[in-house]
Amino acid sequence: MNPSATSVPDLSRIFEPVRETLGRVEQEFARHLESKVELIPQMGKYIQMSGGKRVRPAVLLLAAKMCGYTGDRDVLNAAVVEFIHTATLVHDDIIDEAETRRGRLAAHSRWGNDVTVLLGDYLYIRSMAMALTQDSLEVVRLLCEVTLRMIEGELYQLTKMGDAAITEEEHLEIIRRKTAYLFSGCAEIGGVLGNCSPEQRVALREYGFNLGIAFQIVDDVLDYTSEETVLGKPIGGDLREGKVTLPVILLQQRTGPEVAALIQQVVTDRQVTPEAWHTIKGLLETHGAVDAAYERAVTFAAAAKTHLLDAFPPSVERDGLASLTDYVLQRDR
Ligand code: IPE
Ligand code: IPE
Ligand code: MG
Ligand code: MG
Repeated sequence: MNPSATSVPDLSRIFEPVRETLGRVEQEFARHLESKVELIPQMGKYIQMSGGKRVRPAVLLLAAKMCGYTGDRDVLNAAVVEFIHTATLVHDDIIDEAETRRGRLAAHSRWGNDVTVLLGDYLYIRSMAMALTQDSLEVVRLLCEVTLRMIEGELYQLTKMGDAAITEEEHLEIIRRKTAYLFSGCAEIGGVLGNCSPEQRVALREYGFNLGIAFQIVDDVLDYTSEETVLGKPIGGDLREGKVTLPVILLQQRTGPEVAALIQQVVTDRQVTPEAWHTIKGLLETHGAVDAAYERAVTFAAAAKTHLLDAFPPSVERDGLASLTDYVLQRDR
């Protein structure tokens, strides 16, 4: 699924229509990390400089511009969604006991869990304080809603940890909540800022939602197929964390009780021996389970693109958002 690096759509090209604005989002992000408690800007900068892709702020900016928005609240809201995303990641890495993120030590590996939990809390509340500096309560309400869905997704996922018998639908519910709602909110907020029609607003919401599902399925696939040096986070982490994601769910649909028992063993032990890893990778390959999971992502990405193209006339911003649906399928990190 990851052909040669050159065929992966280039994010900087996709983001080109909002390149300058994204630069201002970085400044806004840094500005809101300022605090007399030095640790906050110190940790904040470490995370900000670690090379996140900025997909969510870019979706918001592209959607706003596509809808004709010319004000400056897009910068604020794009910084807000990246704050929310950052808070989730620092907490997620503690929960998942993931030592690395974006190719370097995760915040908790460097500063410890106690400090990092509080930094995550700080980022969440700060993001809401930032959002409240604008008049539109509608946008703030949307941001609260999607953030709550995300936390619900992380919590629901925890209740399913170590359960090899999780169903495909239960798993989809997790990824809709933990990932898709935030993408959906980014696209929709762009539309709200640009005063789009009610139909276009629904289309943007659906675009982001389907894009987010595809994005997370690919993330889960990459956990089996990528390399840590490329991905910047540990491979095989999901199984070790007791997390049964789509490739393994589909594998179990295609195999019998023996494979189910093997998977249950691994997620119960929270340990994958090299032999078990080799066996599971082989089974995934033989039964086409990774490919099948990837095909699901292809379907969601296509749905995202259709919602977008049906509702908006051609523009460079629309091209960018459309290319993003290809990018999520071909990304390698
Ligand atoms: C990681 O998101 C969390 C998931 C939803 C899979 P990204 O892959 O967007 O993370 P960064 O910000 O680019 O590191
Ligand atoms: C995504 O879940 C985290 C959220 C968006 C809440 P993962 O646990 O799969 O993300 P990574 O793999 O750590 O980035
Ligand atoms: Mg994680
Ligand atoms: Mg993951």
